[in-house]
Amino acid sequence: MKIKPIIAGNWKMHKSPSEGKTFISSIKNLLLDLKHVSVIFAPPFTGLFDMDVMPPFYSAAQNCHWEEKGAFTGEISVSMIQDCGAEYVILGHSERRHVFSESDNWINKKVKAVLAGELKPILCIGETLDQRNAMETDLVLKSQLELGLSGVNSLENIVIAYEPVWAIGTGVTADKNQVESAHATVRNILNELFPKSENIHVLYGGSVNPGNAEELIQVPGVNGFLIGGASLDVESFTSITQIVENIQ
Ligand code: PGA
Repeated sequence: MKIKPIIAGNWKMHKSPSEGKTFISSIKNLLLDLKHVSVIFAPPFTGLFDMDVMPPFYSAAQNCHWEEKGAFTGEISVSMIQDCGAEYVILGHSERRHVFSESDNWINKKVKAVLAGELKPILCIGETLDQRNAMETDLVLKSQLELGLSGVNSLENIVIAYEPVWAIGTGVTADKNQVESAHATVRNILNELFPKSENIHVLYGGSVNPGNAEELIQVPGVNGFLIGGASLDVESFTSITQIVENIQ
């Protein structure tokens, strides 16, 4: 079965709610006839409420807490995200892991909370440059998947994003052989953990831009992109989406 690619824009801490609304309406006007891709916008929490999206456009939160409610200053629960109409939650992004010290254990609790709330986690994994240089990429991917998905019964509603940390926001993209090999590793690990997982999306992320999207989307095992910097600009985001749409 052919997997419909996902193009997800992770805005990180960019765009106020009104800027986000204007941005989304421009994108929708430029991408009127999308048939072969799904597009996800992940604004900061403040932009999530009342987002005007309908399939093939979806919205995502960039994080959440695993508890339903309580004394957790600064946190947002899954049901709050659901109430905003979002469908996806990005979890374990490299900035959460490395800037905010999130552990695999926390990420796993979040994955399970998001699934329990009937939303879809986009679970990010990826090695640092030191780990790659030490030939530990496969080990890191395996451990992040095993720990992140521990206690999960099915991958049906899960998206995985492979994002080498050294390629995020650096302008350095993994080359197509590195991407192919990492995606093959991810597939093998997933097949071992979940024997019926062949239809699950595995996205690539890390300095995707209009200049490399065509090559990267054709790498075997890549089912779309998680995009940071280039997702903030109307022209580059529509151009990447159009490239992927046209290739399907
Ligand atoms: P980038 O970010 O496209 O700016 O490298 C990717 C990400 O953080 O998901």
